[in-house]
Amino acid sequence: MRSIVIAGNWKMYKTRAQTREYLATFVPMIQNRSSDRNVVLCSPYTSLETLAEGLEGQNVGVGAQNLHWEKEGAFTGEISAPMLQELKVTHVVIGHSERREYFGETNQTVLKRTQAVLAANLIPIVCVGESKAQRDNNETETFIFQQLDEGLDGVNLAQVIIAYEPIWAIGTGETCESEEANRVIGLIRQRIKGEQVPILYGGSVKPTNIDELMAQPEIDGALVGGASLEAESFARIVNYVD
Ligand code: PGA
Repeated sequence: MRSIVIAGNWKMYKTRAQTREYLATFVPMIQNRSSDRNVVLCSPYTSLETLAEGLEGQNVGVGAQNLHWEKEGAFTGEISAPMLQELKVTHVVIGHSERREYFGETNQTVLKRTQAVLAANLIPIVCVGESKAQRDNNETETFIFQQLDEGLDGVNLAQVIIAYEPIWAIGTGETCESEEANRVIGLIRQRIKGEQVPILYGGSVKPTNIDELMAQPEIDGALVGGASLEAESFARIVNYVD
């Protein structure tokens, strides 16, 4: 059985005070979830310690949204594994499409970051997904396969989580049909030859579509942006009905 992972990606949202407020509502709401559901919250660096403290004993992972492959050095604006480990971080989102689009992340830097995450015994959530233009040109599979082949080249997949996030469905309210997300995730699974690797769907996941998405056999969980910002909404996603 592959693990189920429901991860929230807060992106560049929430101060520490807002994080505390969120946890006060969220934690009581996820107490009765089935024990096979792994929950992760990925916040800006400034809230990581607050999350780790507030989630102590809750069996909820704490995720960062980036990690540099060096332990330290002259890399202004970057963050390293030892710095995150000290804050009790457990997961790191790597290669999110926003990092690829706005901050020059490539498959090569995705590979270096992923290797560094694994070397630190943290869990990478590696994101792949095609743009609208690529989908319209029937390039979805070739593009994603290249992201996987290059971004995970030689990587031991035992601790890796993959998120399939079609770019056109991120933050747009336009969800990929659950059958289509299921189909692409099935192709990703064949390509990486990692039967045990959890593969999540991401892109406008909401309380209203999570049940249907999770009913698909290939979809092992969700990476949730906008709908993870509100405690009630993310708790409903964690408590999806199967
Ligand atoms: P969204 O974002 O749920 O707001 O579409 C998903 C993501 O970018 O991880």
